Amino acid sequence: MRHQLNDIFQLIVTSPKENCDAAIKRLISFYSNFEFDSGEQTVTNYGLALSPKHSADCLNDYQRTFAFMNGVHRALEELLNRDSEVINVMYAGTGAYAPLIIPALNYFQNERIQVAFIDIHQESIDNVSCIIDHLGLSVNVEEFLVCDATKFKTDKKFDLIISEVMFRALTSEPQVAVARHLSPLLKSDGVFIPEKITITVNYQDNEHHVLSLSKKNTLKNTSLFESVECKVKQDDFSDIILKTKVSIYEDFILDHNRSKITDDLVLGSTIHVKKDSFKMLFKINNSPNWKINYNP
Ligand SMILES: C[S@@+](CC[C@H](N)C(=O)[O-])C[C@H]1O[C@@H](n2cnc3c(N)ncnc32)[C@H](O)[C@@H]1O
Repeated sequence: MRHQLNDIFQLIVTSPKENCDAAIKRLISFYSNFEFDSGEQTVTNYGLALSPKHSADCLNDYQRTFAFMNGVHRALEELLNRDSEVINVMYAGTGAYAPLIIPALNYFQNERIQVAFIDIHQESIDNVSCIIDHLGLSVNVEEFLVCDATKFKTDKKFDLIISEVMFRALTSEPQVAVARHLSPLLKSDGVFIPEKITITVNYQDNEHHVLSLSKKNTLKNTSLFESVECKVKQDDFSDIILKTKVSIYEDFILDHNRSKITDDLVLGSTIHVKKDSFKMLFKINNSPNWKINYNP
């Protein structure tokens, strides 16, 4: 089993992204050896936590899975080249398969990597623990935790935090709240994956940058973010579209429309603008979402 996963991982880290489908399909087939309780989704105060079954289905988003696995591989390679004895990793939102790190742990076979595996769903953590046992990777486990990552408390600092709990334009799932809560737990030279999420608005012939989420900019404590005023030309009607770009690590980037998490979101139309501008509001609650103020 270890060899089989290693072959698949080598394929993932050596294939050009145009060939990612074949490599990720083999990964899906590998993971299908493990059966788990499909469970229920959970609506948290800051967004939806996908059910164990749906978390596993995220593997099917080929370009996403491929780019994140490559980004994590590169980050671990670089962290292992640092002097520190132990590389402390937190993986928040593992889903049922923890795919962004388990194949990499199997490849590196290095006890210096110590991982805290976190998910809100017991069934997911049980399955991750079962896969880790099968692969003989318990030496890499710092702990398994079933908890809401936005409430997680520890005195520890991490070299690497991995968390992909997002949907397009940062809607629906709790990425903003999770990144905001976990970023202070990074060491000063620590890496958060994804490094940066950028949202731009596109309408008429304009493209404005409206929001950026990174370890330094976690939208602070706001629950309501308001964009700058977007000027419109009169009588030139177009959709107002939000575009998402995810910078995972270094040159591993998911551009807009490459994945379910970077699909464009049509938010409205300039036809509804009352005067000569509109603004966008991003509200963080149990279903984070954007609204347009057509009359700012
Ligand atoms: C989009 S899935 C990603 C699964 C897997 N990491 C992957 O990349 O394929 C998100 C996972 O994060 C978990 N999750 C979402 N919000 C969470 C929270 N606040 N605390 C802990 N886990 C959370 C969900 O239960 C789900 O398993």
